[in-house]
Amino acid sequence: KGCKLVGCGSAVPNLKVSNDDLAKIVDTSDEWISVRTGIRNRHILAGNDTLTALAVEAARKALQMAEVDPDDVDLVLLCTSTPEDLFGSAPQIQKALGCKRNPLAYDITAACSGFLLGLVSAACYIRGGGFSNVLVIGADALSRYVDWTDRGTCILFGDAAGAVLVQVMTLFACNSEEDGLFGFDMHSDGGGQRFVLIIFLRNQRLIGGLNFASPLCRNLNAPIVENEVDHALGSNGSVLGFPPRRSSYSCIQMKGKEVFRFAVRCVPQSIESALQKAGLTVSSIDWLLLHQANQRIIDVVATRLEVPPERVISNLANYGNTSAASIPLALDEAVRGGKVKLGDIIAASGFGAGLTWGSAIVRW
Ligand code: ACO
Repeated sequence: KGCKLVGCGSAVPNLKVSNDDLAKIVDTSDEWISVRTGIRNRHILAGNDTLTALAVEAARKALQMAEVDPDDVDLVLLCTSTPEDLFGSAPQIQKALGCKRNPLAYDITAACSGFLLGLVSAACYIRGGGFSNVLVIGADALSRYVDWTDRGTCILFGDAAGAVLVQVMTLFACNSEEDGLFGFDMHSDGGGQRFVLIIFLRNQRLIGGLNFASPLCRNLNAPIVENEVDHALGSNGSVLGFPPRRSSYSCIQMKGKEVFRFAVRCVPQSIESALQKAGLTVSSIDWLLLHQANQRIIDVVATRLEVPPERVISNLANYGNTSAASIPLALDEAVRGGKVKLGDIIAASGFGAGLTWGSAIVRW
C-alpha cells in the first residue's frame, strides 16, 4: 500500500509580537534579531487562547482541503512538546473535530522533529495497519516555557499549529511514481539533551502522601520544599492524605551555538541519507523545507546541499521557531500560495531538542 498527502492546514494566534515589541522588554533590537536569526515577528497565545483550539483549526482546514469527513479519520497524531494535558491532548482534538468512530488519538513528543516523526508513523500505520486517513498535527506553544527576561531565547519562539492529512492510496493508483512518502532517516542522541531542554524541577515535586524525608525515600535524594511537606504531613510525620500534586518545569534552557553547530552538521547528512534511501539525489527535489529555527541554519544547509535559494521554503520571518508546527505551517503557506504544486517533491528535515533530527522525502 502507498500513502499520499491530501490536505494541509495551519493556524496561528491573533497576538503578533514584533522585534520592536521585544526590544521594550529585553535588551535587544530589531536589527540584532533579524540579522542573527531572520525572525521579524512571532504569534503568541494570549488570554483564553488554547493550543488545542489552534490544533483543531489547523486540522479542520486540512480535512476541508482533502474533502474528508471527520468521521472518516481513523487516527489522530498530535506532535507536541507543550500539550495542555500531560496525559495527551490528541483525544481532545479528536473529540472537538467530531470524529464519531472513536479513532485512536495520541501525542508524540519529539520537539521540533515531532511532525516528521508523526508523518513517518502515519505512513507506517497506513502501510502496515489498515489505516486509511491519518491526521498528523504539529502544534506547540513554547511561549509558555520561555523566560521572557532571557534575550538569548525569548526572541526565537512563536506559537502555531499545522496539520496534514495522510491517506491510503488505492492499490490501483499505487506505484512508486505516486507514493507520498518514499524515504526517511531519523535519529536521536540523548547525549545532547543539555543543549536545549525544558526540565522537570524535582525540588518542587510533592508526591501525594509520600514523605520525602522518610528513610524509605532518602535515597531518592530529592530536595524538599519544607513548608509544603509540613502542610502535607502531620507534625509527627504521619501521612495526612493525598495533597494536590505540584510540579513545574524550567523555562527553555539553550546553548544556541551548540544547537546551531549540531543542526548544520546533522541535517545535510540526514537529508542525503533519506534521498539515498529514496533512490534520489538533491537535483531531483523541487523544494527544501527545513524546520524553521534560524535563517542562517537554513542558508548553511542549503549551501552545503547545493540547493539554490529559489528552491528553499522559508516563512521564519513571520512566525519565528514554532517547534513541531513549523514544517506543516510552512508547507501549508507554500501550498495555498501556489508555490508547491501537485506532484512536487519536498525534502523536509526537522531537528531540535532531545536531541532529535530526521528527514523525509515527500511528494505533495
Ligand atoms: N539581542 C542582542 N544581543 C544578544 C541577544 C539578543 N536577543 N542574544 C544574545 N545577544 C548577545 C550575547 O549576549 C552575545 O554578547 P557578547 O558577545 O557580549 O557575549 C552576543 O549577542 C552573541 O551571542 P551568541 O549567543 O554568540 O549569538 P549567536 O550568533 O550564536 O546567535 C542564536 C544566537 C540566534 C540563539 C543562535 O545561536 C541560534 O539560532 N542557534 C540555534 C538555536 C535553535 O535553533 N534553537 C532551537 C532548538 S529547537 C527546539 O527543539 C526547541
